[in-house]
Amino acid sequence: MPFCAIILVAVAVSCSHHEGDYVPTARKAQFKAQRTNWHDLLGRHCPRFGHSRVVAVPLSKPAAIGTELKDYKLQLSFDGDRFLTPWMPIIGKRAPKIPFLDVELRRSGTELLGVRAKVSELPSGMEESYRQLITEFRNASYWPKHIIVHYHFKADNDVDLDRGLYVLLIVGLVAAGLLCLNALTGAQGKLGQFVHDMVIEDSAPSTSQVWKGDGKAE
Ligand SMILES: *[C@@H]1O[C@H](CO)[C@@H](O)[C@H](O)[C@H]1NC(C)=O
Repeated sequence: MPFCAIILVAVAVSCSHHEGDYVPTARKAQFKAQRTNWHDLLGRHCPRFGHSRVVAVPLSKPAAIGTELKDYKLQLSFDGDRFLTPWMPIIGKRAPKIPFLDVELRRSGTELLGVRAKVSELPSGMEESYRQLITEFRNASYWPKHIIVHYHFKADNDVDLDRGLYVLLIVGLVAAGLLCLNALTGAQGKLGQFVHDMVIEDSAPSTSQVWKGDGKAE
């Protein structure tokens, strides 16, 4: 019985990510008013829990599209569709020349709380490292193109502390409950014994006391 309670608490607390785990990520594209299905990203293109990393995510060529693509939007989903980004312009009038995707993942302890994504122009400091991918991106007929993505994590410490206290409170309550239960079940036996002893003492008090008194006196 105590073991069951402890296991339940452990399950409630352990819905979480470990440091460095891949956070499952999927992408979806929209072009010419068509939308693709969700495609899971490979581990090497996903965020790793708690780590900051820059990756080049491949975007496959939209089917049935000629050479010129005027509009391409991307949406990402994280942690099994728990968090979705809005549709982000990657190619087209409202898109940057060379898009750079900044993804901030908000965490508390081992839990993912939210995701914020923003598309902007590739920072000039990064152009040197991605020269080849930039050339491919500018070439309208070259596919797959790649988008440079920067994943980074932000810790939400206040919430973490609250949750920690909450977990402590639950553990404390369960422990108290178990102690009470133990005391009760143990007490039934002890109470019986106590009542039994009382009855025996009550039933023959005078004689035994007299005899004891006599023994001590002599
Ligand atoms: C653009 O990409 C296509 C397809 O890969 C290639 O044939 C062509 O040479 C490229 N154009 C330039 C200017 O690099």
